[in-house]
Amino acid sequence: MRVRVNLTERGVVLLKISTKFLLPGMKLARPVYGKNGELLLKKGVVLTAGYVMSLRRCGILAVDVDGLTDLSEEHRNLLEDEVRSDVMNVVRGWSQGEKRKGFERVVETVERIVDEILSGKEVIGNLTEICSADMYTYAHSVDVCVLSLTVGVKLGYSRKDLLLLGMGSLLHDLGKSRVPPEILNKPGKLTPGEFREIKKHPVYGYKIILESQDRIDSRSAAVILNHHERYDGTGYPRGLKGEEIDEMSAICAVADVYNAITTDRVYRKAYPPHEAYEMVMASGNLMFSARVVEAFLKCVLPYPPGSVVRLSNDLIGVVSRVKQGFPFRPVVRIVNSGEELDLLQESSVVITGLLRSEELRDLLTKGGMSGAAAASSSGRAAGNN
Ligand SMILES: [Fe+2]
Ligand SMILES: [Fe+2]
Repeated sequence: MRVRVNLTERGVVLLKISTKFLLPGMKLARPVYGKNGELLLKKGVVLTAGYVMSLRRCGILAVDVDGLTDLSEEHRNLLEDEVRSDVMNVVRGWSQGEKRKGFERVVETVERIVDEILSGKEVIGNLTEICSADMYTYAHSVDVCVLSLTVGVKLGYSRKDLLLLGMGSLLHDLGKSRVPPEILNKPGKLTPGEFREIKKHPVYGYKIILESQDRIDSRSAAVILNHHERYDGTGYPRGLKGEEIDEMSAICAVADVYNAITTDRVYRKAYPPHEAYEMVMASGNLMFSARVVEAFLKCVLPYPPGSVVRLSNDLIGVVSRVKQGFPFRPVVRIVNSGEELDLLQESSVVITGLLRSEELRDLLTKGGMSGAAAASSSGRAAGNN
């Protein structure tokens, strides 16, 4: 369940909330797009019971609603909603056959993202756009591209290399366009045959590139073929090992896994970012090379600014700042007092978890004073009364 909070340019907190827990009266903080990239609901729309039902029926898993509004820290999304939706449609169009004209747009798109990243725009923890299951692959492709490029910058890549990495990572799942959607979006467990079919997508993607008349560099094409290879040789399609896997593919692989596990899917809930962070941390020299994992962990945060966390002293707070090198000890603004708690100073207090969707809904609908938060202010155990 994705229940993180984003900060916009204005310092307003956006709550990403599962459509299961939406209530009439909540206000959309970002637009919602449907399976063809069409606008379903505009930003600012106040939800009615009918809208909530329609969103669920359209397969929308989560939306951003306006939330707590008292944080001043400025964070900016790397890509505007419109740009992101445009990129998703460019990749979709190209992978579905609008080849000639589309390819130039894909190249332009990658250049645009690389230049945004090189200009120093900040990438915040919560990237994946709100979209239906059918648009997942395209939203995911954009996120994996942005994450991979951020890692490339950390590793000192030149602009030319970033463009190659960006191209490969944006198109890494291109081959999924040849996998039947009923297998890709199947809510239940896959049969061994279906799983074998999904595992063909790196080869399908590579073939699409080879058959295409557009010139894609072999290093970008390698990312498409190798992004499911694993450092210990357990990956596919070829079971490459260690240094046999080129670094660009390894970067895309770790970004791919991280993004996939932190996103709600039709068949399972998202892992919260702190669990995903620890999973990646534990994968060095097993699934991914330690060098790539080390660079990756400098690009994501276990508790990104805006995460609503529960503390060991029973207080509930919103992460407001994270100091470099101390990702697990951020500064937290306490919800019911507004006071800031620096966990680097308060060494006896630890984060014990992220708030669940329904708890966040309570915070929103009860003016920030849920049962848990109210209990906290009187020093009692959270959620006991
Ligand atoms: Fe893939
Ligand atoms: Fe992927």
